Amino acid sequence: MAGRASENSVMPDWYLDGLEHVWLPYAQMKTLPAPLPVARTQGSRIVLTDGRELIDGIASWWTACHGYNHPHIRDVVATQLASMPHVMLGGLAHEQALRLASRLTGLLPGELNRVFFSESGSVAVEVAMKMAIQYWINCGAPTKSQFVAFKAGYHGDTTGAMAISDPEASIHALLAGILQKHQLVDLPEDDATTATLERLFAERSESIAGIVIEPLVQGAGGMKFHDASVLQRLRALADRHDTLLIFDEIFTGFGRTGSMFACEQAEIAPDIITLSKALTGGTLPLAATIATRKVFNAFWSDDPKKALMHGPTYTGNALACAAANASLDLLKKSLGCGRSPTFQLPWSEVLRPAEICRV
Ligand SMILES: Cc1ncc(COP(=O)(O)O)c(C=O)c1O
Repeated sequence: MAGRASENSVMPDWYLDGLEHVWLPYAQMKTLPAPLPVARTQGSRIVLTDGRELIDGIASWWTACHGYNHPHIRDVVATQLASMPHVMLGGLAHEQALRLASRLTGLLPGELNRVFFSESGSVAVEVAMKMAIQYWINCGAPTKSQFVAFKAGYHGDTTGAMAISDPEASIHALLAGILQKHQLVDLPEDDATTATLERLFAERSESIAGIVIEPLVQGAGGMKFHDASVLQRLRALADRHDTLLIFDEIFTGFGRTGSMFACEQAEIAPDIITLSKALTGGTLPLAATIATRKVFNAFWSDDPKKALMHGPTYTGNALACAAANASLDLLKKSLGCGRSPTFQLPWSEVLRPAEICRV
């Protein structure tokens, strides 16, 4: 490895040359401790260029749910790479995306059965918001364009997602003034907060397109847990006041809360769900926004204006979908999960000392 001495260690040339040109995430780069140079990963370990090993307790922002470099995902992606890395989904279709769509809809509860692919969680949330607003336009209720979201919630860094991510109190506070205003409320965890939400809907339901929540755990906002009854209350409110219920399971999906999807623990299903992060087992960027038949049917028309006008260039990327299909193979094998199980992870095996890789 070519390298140069830097402070107390030898750093590779690519590190010293490139650090001057990269803009790192969530960082005041002037005062940030220098990032650690990584050579490779394996299982629960991140190996640095100087040979030191880190035990990863974050799983790279909650993505690497099988540990790093799982051979099954690697082999499936390598096979896909050899035959077709990517084709656009504009006018074309391919096996990996269509197989993944059927498998996801087979695993999800309720009537969630149309999958729209994008490449990041934030974009999946933007798509969910756009779907909800246009759903009401297509249904002849164009005033329904605001969202009810919750204090301490986090849904991403693009402007639509920022606007429902507790903008005043969050990392996005500086830009709060330029964001669209939504209804930011407390979770309906008791009689008082439920009554406040009831009043809000009684007064403004004709302006509300949807309710957006991270079910069971508000992750990035501080790992705040709530009871499944909160989700049941929201389902009932959404039905009573004719609004859509959107679950952001980008963090909670794929077994993180003990069931395949967190909403299964409340025995209810949303109208739209967003998934990403562990979807590809931490290998490639992929996200999905999945809508019910009822939502999709509002777009199904002879009128071209009723179509969803969204199409990320890499939507349904074949490599990412192959990785997600391989990750589902592993989840099925190791957890025996089908629709609606609350599975028990074999914790005594998973949590062997010094091998914890999930947060
Ligand atoms: C619940 C939730 N929604 C959305 C996002 C945004 O996802 P991404 O960082 O892929 O844009 C995150 C990321 O942490 C998240 O935890």
